[in-house]
Amino acid sequence: MTHIAVLGSMNMDLVAYAEKAPQLGETVTGRAFRTIPGGKGANQAIAAARAGATVSMIGAVGHDVYGSRMRETLEHSGVDTDSLRTIEGPSGTAHIVVDDEGGNAIVVVPGANGTVDHLAPGDEGVIASADTLLLQLEIPLAAVVAGAEAARRHGVRTILTPSPARPLPFELLHNIDLLVPNEREAATLTDRGDPRDAAAALLDRVPQVVVTLGAAGSLYLTRDAAPLVIPAPRVTAVDSTGAGDTFVGALAVALAEEKPIREALSWAAAAAAISVQREGATESMPYRPEIEAQYTA
Ligand code: RIB
Ligand code: NA
Repeated sequence: MTHIAVLGSMNMDLVAYAEKAPQLGETVTGRAFRTIPGGKGANQAIAAARAGATVSMIGAVGHDVYGSRMRETLEHSGVDTDSLRTIEGPSGTAHIVVDDEGGNAIVVVPGANGTVDHLAPGDEGVIASADTLLLQLEIPLAAVVAGAEAARRHGVRTILTPSPARPLPFELLHNIDLLVPNEREAATLTDRGDPRDAAAALLDRVPQVVVTLGAAGSLYLTRDAAPLVIPAPRVTAVDSTGAGDTFVGALAVALAEEKPIREALSWAAAAAAISVQREGATESMPYRPEIEAQYTA
């Protein structure tokens, strides 16, 4: 079995479902409210575990009901939580509005995730034992940099989801093997609106880039081959929260299993397509047999 380590965030997602998201100064009436474990780190961990990998989660939750529920959720999906700390203070929360098109707007309050600013004793060993380390930007940058460095020292593949988008220092990017922004993040990182131009610009900084394009699939660029455009299955979106994380978790598993890149990207697209048809981030993530059933080569 492949082993994936995730260094990142865990949030309790506080989700209001409404016909449309409110503008500033506006009040709208919602249809339903749900609390669902999420956070980009936990999402990628659960996606990878359900896709068939052994997964270790490195991060922190608060000493509150959200923290215990998030820990349980990871464990139920088979994620190893030995490197998950519980700290004094609140867990991370994400305040989300999902509209009737399945789109979302999110405010993240880091809480415990903000304390993950370095590697704790033992974390490097966990990273060293993995095939791949998954990173995002919902914990302090210092820890992301340290995680990528540790991974590089031990020859572990690194995949970074640059979200929430922010300027990325060379000291981080030179240890990243694959960068997976969405269209908007790719534009923010490069000042180029066209995803292909943005991806080409990013290739100056990392050897491989996948830009996720939502319903339009994904775009893969590497320095030594022609770009690939991989379509996504046509589905009706109910809630796209965590779809990008589902894609990355599944992609990491496929690549660790040495599937060819085109196949790995289609496989990840199948996983993400399943997740957008169901509510919630972690709750909507498919198990491997569902991915296999949806996947078409
Ligand atoms: O990527 C989706 C995630 O972003 C949500 O689960 C929410 O927690 C925010 O971090
Ligand atoms: Na979903």
